[in-house]
Amino acid sequence: MTTPNYLSDRTHAVEWSGIRIMFALAEQVPGVVNLGIGQPDFDTPAFIRDAAKQALDDGYTRYPPAKGFADLRRAIAKKVKAENGIDADPDSEVYVAVGAMQVIFNTCLHLLNPGDEVIVMDPGYDYYSQIRLFGGVPVPVATHESNRFKVDPADIRAAITDKTKLMIINTPSNPTGAIFDEAILRSIADMAIAHDIWVLSDEPYEHILFDGHRHISIGSFDGMAERTISAFTLSKSYAMTGWRVGYAVAPKAIIDEMEKLMEHMVSGVTAVAQRAALAAISAPQDCVREMVATYDKRRHLVHEGLNAIDGVTCLNPESTFYAFPNISSTGSTSWDFAKYLVKEHRVAVVPGSIFGRAGEGYVRLSFAASMEQLKEGIARIGRGVAALRS
Ligand SMILES: Cc1ncc(COP(=O)(O)O)c(C=O)c1O
Repeated sequence: MTTPNYLSDRTHAVEWSGIRIMFALAEQVPGVVNLGIGQPDFDTPAFIRDAAKQALDDGYTRYPPAKGFADLRRAIAKKVKAENGIDADPDSEVYVAVGAMQVIFNTCLHLLNPGDEVIVMDPGYDYYSQIRLFGGVPVPVATHESNRFKVDPADIRAAITDKTKLMIINTPSNPTGAIFDEAILRSIADMAIAHDIWVLSDEPYEHILFDGHRHISIGSFDGMAERTISAFTLSKSYAMTGWRVGYAVAPKAIIDEMEKLMEHMVSGVTAVAQRAALAAISAPQDCVREMVATYDKRRHLVHEGLNAIDGVTCLNPESTFYAFPNISSTGSTSWDFAKYLVKEHRVAVVPGSIFGRAGEGYVRLSFAASMEQLKEGIARIGRGVAALRS
C-alpha cells in the first residue's frame, strides 16, 4: 500500500498490522473458522455492564479527570499492591489509559529520542510501529522453543549497547504463552539497573495462567519502581476489549507527562467505561476464575488436537489464550501457510513471522473460541497439513 507524499516522515514509520491484513483475507471466505482473534469470546460479565448502565443514570456523562477518577485510581493502587506487589501512590503514580495500548504509545513518546535502542522479544507482540514513530530502533532478542520461549538473559545482555534506552517485557507473552520466571526477571532487573535502562512491562495476560503458574511483576523488584512503567488492562481479564480501559503504574514524572498529554489528546478515558472498570476491579474475582477455567479446558483440546496432527508440534501454553504450534515441517513460510489455510481450508490463524523473524515456522492460534469452533478449526488444519505433506 503506498502512502501519499504529503504525509509526514513520522507517519511513514507506522505500518498496518499484519493481523489486520490476515483478517481482511479471512473476511472474504464464507464459513471461515477464525482462530486468529486475540480477544476473549465472552461477553463482559453482567455486573460490570450493570455498573456502566447505573453510571449513565448517575450522570457520568461529563469530562472525566484526565488521569482517571480518583476512586478508580485508589482501587488500582490497592489491586497492584495486593496482586502485583507494587506500591503506588494513587494520586501521582497511577494513570487510567485507553487500554494498555495507550500506555505503550505514551511510553515510547515520552522516553524515546531518535536513535534510542529498544530491546524487544522475538517472537513477541508487535511494538515496532510505536517505537519507530518516535525514531526509536527496535532491537529484537530471539527466544526459542527449546527453552519454552523464555528469554535467556545472556541474550539480552549481548544486545545491550550504550544506546539502549528501554526494554519491553511482555510476560505472560503474546504470542507464545511463555511466562518469564522470577530468576529471569531478576536478571533483567539487574541489567536495567546496572545500565540505567527503562523497562516497559506490558502485562495484559496477568490473570490468564494455568497449572498453578504465578504472575510476577518486574516493577515490584527493589530498585525498579523508579525505572519501570507497568502496563495493565481490563481487556483480557474481564472480557472488556471494547471498553478501552487500561492503566499505567509509573514514577510521578512519567505519570505527569501522560496526564498532560491526555489533556491535549483525548481528554481522558470515557467516564462510564471507567465506572465499569471500578466495578470490575473492586468485586470478588470469580468471573475471572471462571473464564480462565474455560480457557484451560480449551487449551487441553488445542494442545492435544494440534500434536495429533502429523507434522505439527505444539508446546502446552503456560498462560494466555494462544497456542504457538511449529509448522516448519510443511516447508511453507508461516505467511504462505496461513494464507493457504484460510483460502483452501477456511481456517484463519496468524503467521508467526508477524511477531518477528524468530516467529517464522510457527502460527498463532487463539483458543478464545468455542469448543465446536476449535474442534472444527483443528480438523481443518489437520486436513490442510496432510494435503501439503502428501
Ligand atoms: C501484549 C499485548 N499488549 C497490549 C495489548 C493491547 O491491549 P489493550 O486492549 O489493553 O489496549 C494487547 C492486546 O492484544 C497485547 O496482546
